[in-house]
Amino acid sequence: MPSSERNMFSKILLSAIGLLLANLQHFLCSLMQLIPARKRVTESLTMGNQQARWTKEPSTEASLQTQDLKNFLSRPAKEEITFHSHRGLQCISPLIQTVEETPQPIPTKIKGHIPKWINGNLLRNGPGKFEFGEEKFNHWFDGMALLHQFQLENGTVTYRSKFLQSSSYLANSQNNRIVASEFGTLAMPDPCKSVFGRFMSRFEIPQPSDNASVNYVMYKGDYYVSSETVFMHKVDPETLETKEKADWSKFVAVNGATAHPHYESDGTAYNMGNSYGKHGSRYNIIQIPPQKSNCSDVLEGAKVLCSIAPVDKMKPSYYHSFGMSKNYIIFIEQPIKLNLLQIITSKLRGKPISEGISWEPQYNTYFHVVNKHTGEVLPGQWYSKPFATFHQINAFEDHGCVVLDLCCQDSGTALATYKLQNLRRTGEGLDQVYNSTPRAFPRRFVLPLNVNSDTPVGKDLNPLSYTSARAVKDADGKVWCTHENLHPEGFENVGGLEFPQINYTQYSGRKYRFFYGCGFRHLVGDSLMKVDVETKTFKIWQEDGSYPSEPVFVPVPNAMAEDSGVILSVVVSPTENRSAFLLVLDAETFRELGRAEVPVQMPYGFHGIFASH
Ligand SMILES: [Fe+2]
Repeated sequence: MPSSERNMFSKILLSAIGLLLANLQHFLCSLMQLIPARKRVTESLTMGNQQARWTKEPSTEASLQTQDLKNFLSRPAKEEITFHSHRGLQCISPLIQTVEETPQPIPTKIKGHIPKWINGNLLRNGPGKFEFGEEKFNHWFDGMALLHQFQLENGTVTYRSKFLQSSSYLANSQNNRIVASEFGTLAMPDPCKSVFGRFMSRFEIPQPSDNASVNYVMYKGDYYVSSETVFMHKVDPETLETKEKADWSKFVAVNGATAHPHYESDGTAYNMGNSYGKHGSRYNIIQIPPQKSNCSDVLEGAKVLCSIAPVDKMKPSYYHSFGMSKNYIIFIEQPIKLNLLQIITSKLRGKPISEGISWEPQYNTYFHVVNKHTGEVLPGQWYSKPFATFHQINAFEDHGCVVLDLCCQDSGTALATYKLQNLRRTGEGLDQVYNSTPRAFPRRFVLPLNVNSDTPVGKDLNPLSYTSARAVKDADGKVWCTHENLHPEGFENVGGLEFPQINYTQYSGRKYRFFYGCGFRHLVGDSLMKVDVETKTFKIWQEDGSYPSEPVFVPVPNAMAEDSGVILSVVVSPTENRSAFLLVLDAETFRELGRAEVPVQMPYGFHGIFASH
């Protein structure tokens, strides 16, 4: 290479490195705001006649921070998990494809009857556009947010949908290509830029996406759509019009927040978000007051109640939700790890940030309990064997313990499954993807709160006769917890359960009996279930070729019984000419009351809420 070219190359490289170093902290913060979650595959799959055998190799990346953590169970070098395999799964690709929006309300065709007392909007969120021009997103979570509304009034139902007018959606639309990076898709540099410009763009600070496609949330009486980045959008629940963008970091020192906040009956909200500063990463518990200070108020008055240091500051855990009882926030630090070094260099390496997230079962799972009135982190140390959780079911206090119910997977590798190429497979390829995906099962943990030096070692500290969960103190003061299954034997046949919901307004944080969820005998929910945690029995609704969404419980006004109400779920089908419909089940009997058929294509979505009129 001639010396002039060498000098030029060195200058470019030095400027690039300088730019990267100068922006390192901001770069890290910005990147972290883009993250939901995913896996690095560590399993290999071998198929038998009736069963898939799934062999998990423990990672060799044990860090110094985990060397003092006891392996809860003495795990063999290879842990084998067996489960029934499924064959001949129906192709669900049409449920993961771009659809047109339906901005004006359209009538639905009612079959059966919709109770007249249900008045309000079922608001749902999820991806509805997966490409711009010739460029396609890679991951289901990258799809552009499509907002759905089923308006129920006096026994009738109308439907409408609108794409969230996020900056990502608008910029992608305007350029007719993907210009905003998402969780599993790295936006390519502008081809119109010079070679130098394209090279330097790898060192630019990426903007976190505001494609809030995961859930509807409420703060101070306003409806927002949220993912897990620093941005949310206020949305009009009646028109689905996109209102102002809210930036968490303008109100409180966090770089994002979950899409699953908890609420008190007075409207006080709690959430959790990570921060990345000069002291490394932290987990923060946020409290948002219920009242607006003025009509333009967004998140004014939000404050960090408590800040918790990760076990490993360079590998904080990913979390999707958290638990809340009457007096405590329960945060689960699980072995799904955000590798900050990999993440900050992801753009440089031409990788999406999803590549920096991994399941690392050399870490155990750690429960943190925080007094939500004082922000004090309780001194107890509660651990369990490694497990992954995305959605908590409920938490309550009883006889000095926190009882925590959640959907658990024995491996945190599921999310890479949800690449679009996997979801759109057919035949054996689709079966293989499904059979290699860990299932989620509802489990109960009991955390005894009053553990001190006088607490006996080696004894089960769970005083609650109604649960077989165990909590045993070790000589070093750590309390090791084992779960109780909240489901009957044979529950594997329904594919486990996810998208849990309860009668939230009356039973969140309280001892309860019923929860609802989707069974997963496919990569998306294929049944609805009601589980009785006292009798360990369940009721199921399913229809061949139908894929119901997360069940939302709506109580009958002034109801006394926990399950007096209805379940609302949006059921979609990949079969041509088969209508999507809003399903209304009697929550007590789990029998269908009615359905409202919608003559439009609808993709499978994520979460939603019912907004009463
Ligand atoms: Fe979620």
